[in-house]
Amino acid sequence: MTIWNLGGINADFVYSVPHIPAPGETLDASSRDFFLGGKGANMSVAAARAGSHVCHIGAVGGDGRWAIDRLTEYGVDTRTISTVETETAHAMIFVAEDGENGIVVYPGANRAIPEKTLLQSLTNAKTGDWFFTQNEVNLQIEGAKFAKETGLNVAYAAAPFDADVTSQMLRYLDFLILNEVEAEQLKAATGQGPADLPVKDVIVTLGSKGATWFGARGETHVPSHKVTPVDTTGAGDTFTGYVIAGLDRGQPILQAMQTAAKAAAIMVTRHGTADVIPSLADVRAFSG
Ligand code: RIB
Repeated sequence: MTIWNLGGINADFVYSVPHIPAPGETLDASSRDFFLGGKGANMSVAAARAGSHVCHIGAVGGDGRWAIDRLTEYGVDTRTISTVETETAHAMIFVAEDGENGIVVYPGANRAIPEKTLLQSLTNAKTGDWFFTQNEVNLQIEGAKFAKETGLNVAYAAAPFDADVTSQMLRYLDFLILNEVEAEQLKAATGQGPADLPVKDVIVTLGSKGATWFGARGETHVPSHKVTPVDTTGAGDTFTGYVIAGLDRGQPILQAMQTAAKAAAIMVTRHGTADVIPSLADVRAFSG
């Protein structure tokens, strides 16, 4: 089947720093690197590297041809990306010596995706395909509603967290993934914990502690693999993309999570975002 991913595409400027700058603090970076990123683009690349057919729905500015080219190179179908008159989104990412990060995103074209681009793309979707989205774009709710009404499976990563959008998305979802901070924020907004939500499958990611699946038969924990972190940026996106790819291919969710945990562990040992997401061959060779 196909995964139709309405998602953000960012130019990632990654600064290696001794620690994440405190308020009022100025720091020298020891290096600055440039990667393709954006939560949506990272998840599209992860799902494509896991073997799925992924159509990325999104937008870049006139300065964003390179991003489309890289997505294509990584196996993502880019015919559903529009070029708009707003500059391509970018992110400034600080990566500290312990691998942790702090990120500021300028949304640019990600929040100017034309409705026509979304609807024309989904017109080509077939029953059983997955519609997938996150919060770095516009049109998530319109996309989820249209997808549900036309018989697609609907998946959503509630990141970066937006209580209002997430609350409105719940009614359309078959699958929801969020981290533990986002799960707490959702509980504060709706009064519902992961097990109480009206969504068939919910995964809460716990960073180095693994991830918990809340399904019809209760909750099941999948541990992470212990690795020495170099850069945690994009590891959660890699996990999510691999899980969606597993679901798309009809794998049991626990099996998809176990493969995704290996992919995320490899990703934590690599510096960078979409460009360094591991392939399924890397994951199969992983022995950690
Ligand atoms: O989750 C990591 C991503 O967050 C980065 O690629 C950055 O672009 C931001 O969207």
